[in-house]
Amino acid sequence: MARNPDQLSFGFTATAAFEEAKDAARGCQACPLWEPATQTVFGEGPVPAPIVLIGEQPGDKEDLAGKPFVGPAGQKLNEALEEAGIPRAALYVTNAVKHFKYVPRGKIRLHQKPVTAEIKACRQWLEKELDFVRPKVAVALGATAAQALSGKAMPVNKNRGVLFELGEAKGLVTIHPSYLLRIEDKAAAQAEYARFVEDLSLLKAYLG
Ligand code: URA
Repeated sequence: MARNPDQLSFGFTATAAFEEAKDAARGCQACPLWEPATQTVFGEGPVPAPIVLIGEQPGDKEDLAGKPFVGPAGQKLNEALEEAGIPRAALYVTNAVKHFKYVPRGKIRLHQKPVTAEIKACRQWLEKELDFVRPKVAVALGATAAQALSGKAMPVNKNRGVLFELGEAKGLVTIHPSYLLRIEDKAAAQAEYARFVEDLSLLKAYLG
């Protein structure tokens, strides 16, 4: 096959630039969350990718592993993606905030919601990821991600499950999978889970 030097060099440059951005994020001190966290948790997945999933911030497990959505919320997400017929490996998965925010309680590190200043300080990395990944759809899992994506407060209940214009891409807001883990009533949890799968199913049309 004929070699196309331009294409090869473009591919190399894009990959190198993405890795450079990821490296730079490792040293980010744009807000105070870097200090108690173990590490920056950058997104992972194919670059480019048709779909980006954006969570809130790494949790305890993600902070230790250095990878997004590998803990209990990630298991729930994987289950719902599988049920919706969306292979996680085809998606780029990241978070609005790249450091774990917590308060220590004995041996446990209790999750704390990031504030607007922390979301804003971290937006530079999300913007870079979106520039490289160039998704057809960017999905906000929960209110923090919706705020990071749209630049304004977007209540999940009012906006979920409806695709909206987001520059050249589409945006979609749905619940955060950790919400499903907190619902005590079994029937209510099942109903919410089914709605979550329904929201994710909208992504199938953008996979190819
Ligand atoms: N919750 C998130 O929002 N992101 C993760 O990576 C894990 C839990």
